Amino acid sequence: MRSILIKNAEIITMNEKEEILKGDIYIEDDRIVEIGKNLSHFASKVIDATGRTVIPGFIQTHIHLCQTLFRGQADDLELMDWLKQKIWPLEASHDEESIYYSAMLGIGELLQSGTTTVVDMETVHHTDSAFKAIAESGIRALAGKVMMDKGDEVPVLLRENTKESIQKSVDLLEKWHYHDGGRIQYAFCPRFVVSCTEELLINVRDLSAKYHVRVHTHASENANEILIVEREHGMRNVVYLDSIGLANERLILAHCVWLNEEEKRIIKERGVKVSHCPGSNLKLASGIAEVPSLLDSHSYVSLGADGAPCNNNLDMFNEMRLAAIIQKPAHGPTAMNARTVFRMATIGGAKAVGMENEIGSIELGKKADLAILNLNDFHIYPSFDIDPISRIVYSATRADVESTIVNGKILMENRRMNTIDKDI
Ligand code: GUN
Ligand code: FE
Repeated sequence: MRSILIKNAEIITMNEKEEILKGDIYIEDDRIVEIGKNLSHFASKVIDATGRTVIPGFIQTHIHLCQTLFRGQADDLELMDWLKQKIWPLEASHDEESIYYSAMLGIGELLQSGTTTVVDMETVHHTDSAFKAIAESGIRALAGKVMMDKGDEVPVLLRENTKESIQKSVDLLEKWHYHDGGRIQYAFCPRFVVSCTEELLINVRDLSAKYHVRVHTHASENANEILIVEREHGMRNVVYLDSIGLANERLILAHCVWLNEEEKRIIKERGVKVSHCPGSNLKLASGIAEVPSLLDSHSYVSLGADGAPCNNNLDMFNEMRLAAIIQKPAHGPTAMNARTVFRMATIGGAKAVGMENEIGSIELGKKADLAILNLNDFHIYPSFDIDPISRIVYSATRADVESTIVNGKILMENRRMNTIDKDI
């Protein structure tokens, strides 16, 4: 049996009471089995975390691992031009090998910055290679092949026949859903309303109900995108998705920058999960999402970095910081405080993927998905009377992540730690 004992840590639990404890965490196989003081289990790995802060691993609810290799090649354009001129041709040029390396590069960056779960939208082809990278790397993921069966501007290589798009998605689902004890799950990914026929969306609705899997799509990101949808369907994005029956608790909607009151009401009433991507929304000049009003109405909002060409390094520290600071000028200093965005980055993400009983906080019986941070560079002496969550949100960087653990496995140790290996 694999076991890890983390000693003398500051633990940001994100449990119901959001307790911050000092003590030890004992992990057996993939789960946290004890949290307490002076634990003395014999463990196959002991980590002396004196002066370190242990947090639940970050959960990013919108990302495109297939775009990691496009970083720097798709700059300074707004959404529709960016997709047409850069992203779609680049996605069309991917092959099996490049998808694998794009995913592996992205996963490496995610683990280095403390992200343990991602909701990943791939491209039309070679999604099997991305699943292979996810399987080999050990990261937790809900991933799927993008579906796009219409659009004059979509390169021929990416435009699919409706039935084929559905069949390929179901084949991948049957191969990968619940792989490795549920660490890997499938999510259907119709790209956005602009590139999907109603027939495709209706099928996705039924398949998501049949297999109990998430649907992951983009909506209401950009003014031109919204105009295209309104021109074609006479409705706004979320209203249209609701008219098809897709707006439900399994739907993850990335962006939602420009929601009207009716769309906000649908999101709240149907339990739709919003993935806020502040870095991408700024980079593509899409706008600033009205997250405070979504939170006021108790809608579900979590965070994602989107693709590397939007954000550049898939770093949740960056997203948390932006999510907080971009709201301050319009809504005041506390509208999106540090604790709110940290909640969105952890337990909020767990709720978005329907796994709040398994991940998103450090609690007995939960999966051991955590990151160990060394925040001492900010202070000459380790000090616990400073709010560590504020410190993480406003000043920490990926360089402060010492280890990232997923499913009880240490996947990343990028700074030297005081560890003792024992054979059992
Ligand atoms: N809308 C449709 N496709 C995409 C994409 O790849 N990235 C972003 N940010 N928005 C999209
Ligand atoms: Fe996206």
